Amino acid sequence: RTIESLGSLQGTRVIVRCDLNVPLERGRITDDGRIRASLPTIRALIAQGARVVIVSHLGRPDGAPDAKYSLAPVAGRLGELLGTGVAFSTDTVGDSATDAVAQLTDGGVVVLENLRFNAGETSKVDAERAAFAARLAALGDVLVSDGFGVVHRKQASVFELATLLPSAAGLLIATELDVLDRLTEKPEAPYTVVLGGSKVSDKLGVIGHLLPRINSLLIGGGMVFTFLAAQGHKVGSSLLESDQLDTVRGYLAEAERLGVKIVLPTDIVVASKFGGDAEHQVTPADAIEDTPFGASGLGLDIGPDSAQAFAAIIRASKTVFWNGPMGVFELAAFAEGTRTVAAALTEVDGLSVVGGGDSAAAVRILGFHDDQFGHISTGGGASLEFLEGKRLPGLEVLGWQ
Ligand code: 3PG
Repeated sequence: RTIESLGSLQGTRVIVRCDLNVPLERGRITDDGRIRASLPTIRALIAQGARVVIVSHLGRPDGAPDAKYSLAPVAGRLGELLGTGVAFSTDTVGDSATDAVAQLTDGGVVVLENLRFNAGETSKVDAERAAFAARLAALGDVLVSDGFGVVHRKQASVFELATLLPSAAGLLIATELDVLDRLTEKPEAPYTVVLGGSKVSDKLGVIGHLLPRINSLLIGGGMVFTFLAAQGHKVGSSLLESDQLDTVRGYLAEAERLGVKIVLPTDIVVASKFGGDAEHQVTPADAIEDTPFGASGLGLDIGPDSAQAFAAIIRASKTVFWNGPMGVFELAAFAEGTRTVAAALTEVDGLSVVGGGDSAAAVRILGFHDDQFGHISTGGGASLEFLEGKRLPGLEVLGWQ
């Protein structure tokens, strides 16, 4: 179901579920990639004279309003990019939202406050999500679902809302799926997946499903330390998911059985503490506690030898999917691993895909341009789960899977 299948949208209240979950630093947007990626659909709807009601989540607030996760700065940036006034409602489904929607004229746009300020959005109880979705549905006549980054979540605005209103996928979802289909249907070998980032438990789960489909898996970011610990190494105060050690040992054995290379860093940048002013030093990955910082040292980036080794494997690949920074790239001292991996992706003679909010933000913040990569996906978890071959609730409900 595409936007065209919804018929004429002139004067129609169209709820557009976007993923405008952008990185913010003290209220300032540090990468507006997800807002830009949402523009084609929003512009197409404006051009048709629709009344556009934009909903999104931002961050992971606790089901209640929390000023630091407000979508207000996002609405401001969207207005700048569209070059037109964009209204903002300080609530998602209350009086302010109802009034703001009622005041829309044809071709007008309003952004409603963060969906996740409402416990019903992410509730694990079906009836609670359904009740919140019903309140959202009252604000629109049709739904255009275009938040690709969140289609793997069974949440009220992603799933239940699409069962209550005539609904269709937007242009971003269509574009994303075009590229990801190329990664799942006969990807050219060697096929390398690079995983990093800080949402460690989310990502550990996908590895088992990815292994049979790829040739090499390069591990960086916060996940490294669970792998190193699984091999019996001490990791100081680095990020560690101790309850996942057996799972990780299973992956290492499975990779060996399948002939898939799991490549771990051989050196690590270890810091005295978390912060831009931390003392730091490069140390072998099996000697993280042998620095002056001892057991309180924490790994914040892959080391230079590892970064070069990763880069060589990436450059020799025909298909590369990368999700998750190699280190704390926001701090200059721990950005080199991510920079080296990003640079290698720009040299791939084949298809290179950068997936996810953090990785996309990283490459742009480090000065790379979108057109240096085959594709920059707005979905991290979503694209990984798609590559695993999982059914994604937000796509299934639209008949796109
Ligand atoms: C993302 O950043 O991956 C998406 O916006 C989904 O966010 P979530 O992991 O908090 O559901």
